[in-house]
Amino acid sequence: MALVGCGSAVPAASITNQQLSERVDTNDEWIRTRTGIGARRIAGPSESLTCLASRAAQAALDHAGWSPDDVDLILLATSSPDDLFGTAPRVQGALGARRAVAFDLTAACSGFLFALITASQYLGSGAMKRALVIGADQLSRWVDWDDRSTCVLFGDGAGAVAVEACGAQDNGLLGFRMRSDGSRNGCLTLAQLDKHAPLLGELTAQRGGFAPIQMNGQEVYKFAVREVPAILSELLEATGTAPEQLDWLLLHQANQRILDAVADRFAIDHSQVLSNLALYGNTSAATIPLMLDEAVKDGRVQPGHLLASSGFGAGLSWGAALLRW
Ligand code: ACO
Repeated sequence: MALVGCGSAVPAASITNQQLSERVDTNDEWIRTRTGIGARRIAGPSESLTCLASRAAQAALDHAGWSPDDVDLILLATSSPDDLFGTAPRVQGALGARRAVAFDLTAACSGFLFALITASQYLGSGAMKRALVIGADQLSRWVDWDDRSTCVLFGDGAGAVAVEACGAQDNGLLGFRMRSDGSRNGCLTLAQLDKHAPLLGELTAQRGGFAPIQMNGQEVYKFAVREVPAILSELLEATGTAPEQLDWLLLHQANQRILDAVADRFAIDHSQVLSNLALYGNTSAATIPLMLDEAVKDGRVQPGHLLASSGFGAGLSWGAALLRW
């Protein structure tokens, strides 16, 4: 599988730490020193998840030089769909990718990496030739804006890559690992509210909804700084890759302290750790492709560069991939 294009899209409105401190008891200094986040983009009424995901996917199509009819598969990693029946088909419709089969995949902040690995299996088996893999989330819909321990962390956005089947010599996915641990699910949830709908009652009585994001920040932090280096180590060893061979660390953007801790574990210079937390915060499934797109388009990531990527988050779920751009 070769990575042949990328794209991204973020909402127009940026909300600074200072603006948040007018709503909850927080301040710019606390947020920056604990997380590295300076601002986040928040979607307005006309910026649906479909809209952001479609803009990112169209940019990846253009970058790859494909037409919509070239696409066989569209995978949309998201935890905040416009439609619980599936938002990927809406993206397919918006792109006019008539031949593509399109479906959603949910694995929180690991979602993009899991979707990329899933797409690689379709391409590697010969079943399909070209795929668009999108990570998009609007957690602003599900954050309790009066809970300072979570509302400062998240933002909205979308990123996408275009990938195509190729010979082994052009392989863009050199190895991967994936893990889940449902026994620790309670650390980070966006759970459906309990409801006891009557079998034959009024439909309105059955409207449920979801509780806002609940998170044990310290447990999630400890999980990330333990499991991300461990899974990356395992992957590097399995692929015979030394940390010095890596051009970039492309990690899920949750917290700058997590990024720095992972870099320190591998003695990788902090300048090789891609980060855009200051501008966008944690955009969940979107962080990795959004960061990749920015670094490809500004020339930091060059053809042939080797990137170690890891996604981690709710589930709990985590994964790693060794990528060649
Ligand atoms: N502003 C000011 N003070 C705050 C804020 C805030 N926004 N939030 C919490 N505090 C206070 C707390 O109330 C606490 O006060 P106290 O000591 O008087 O009780 C104090 O700051 C310290 O709180 P901690 O929770 O111990 O702060 P910590 O250093 O652990 O940082 C953070 C919190 C940033 C959430 C950190 O734990 C973290 O980043 N965890 C990982 C979270 C994460 O990555 N989540 C996303 C996973 S991806 C996905 O799947 C969605």
